[in-house]
Amino acid sequence: MARRILIAGNWKMNKTATEAAILVNEIKREVCDIDNVDILICPPFTALSVASDVINESNISLGAQNFYFEESGAYTGEISASMLKDNGCSHVIIGHSERRVIFNESDTLINKKIKKAIEAGLTPILCIGEKLEEREANKTFDVITSQLEGDLKDIDVEAMKEIIIAYEPVWAIGTGKTATAEQAQEAHAFIRNLIKEKYNQEVANETIILYGGSMKSSNVEELISQPDVDGGLIGGASLDAESFTELVKKSNKE
Ligand code: 13P
Repeated sequence: MARRILIAGNWKMNKTATEAAILVNEIKREVCDIDNVDILICPPFTALSVASDVINESNISLGAQNFYFEESGAYTGEISASMLKDNGCSHVIIGHSERRVIFNESDTLINKKIKKAIEAGLTPILCIGEKLEEREANKTFDVITSQLEGDLKDIDVEAMKEIIIAYEPVWAIGTGKTATAEQAQEAHAFIRNLIKEKYNQEVANETIILYGGSMKSSNVEELISQPDVDGGLIGGASLDAESFTELVKKSNKE
């Protein structure tokens, strides 16, 4: 079965609930007829509820950008998987490089979050990718291998079928520097092969691998024309209805 294209907007720490309602309404109006691309938006926690109300029964899905793996309790400032589900989320981003770098998230923590997300029925979007100095030191594949080893520890084949991976080279995030289509394809093919080695060919074939890092409507076609690039995780270009919906409309692989 061919993998469906997924375009996901990661809003990061942007948009109030009021602003989110306007943006989601604009996006919904523009993409309501699109059925060959899966569309996901990941607003901040405080806008999830209003976004969920707006996208109700549309072709747009809702995800969060983070959560904590415990069910409930004394974890000041944290949000649980059931709270996300209660707010209409079907997906959650895990291990974004900003969380790894700014908030010191480790592969061990990320691994616990992936397991909890799957247990709770949320689709994890696991982000991996190398920093500039790692790429320049020819360590890209070592970094990807080590991240996946830690992040997917003790995750069995059935659980792996639920996971989406986002390859986000850190040097391309928010910098305007996009990986070339060749660089993206090389990394994605490498990731797919690692999944094949750890699990099997079928899971490797079915796993959706998104590219993230300065993706926009002007480069999306070239990137997703690559055989192993199944869509994008979009930061900056997802914050404006026109740029996001243009990107979605150009994301048809055929
Ligand atoms: P930009 O699209 O702003 O580079 O961000 C990418 C990203 O981090 C998506 O998670």
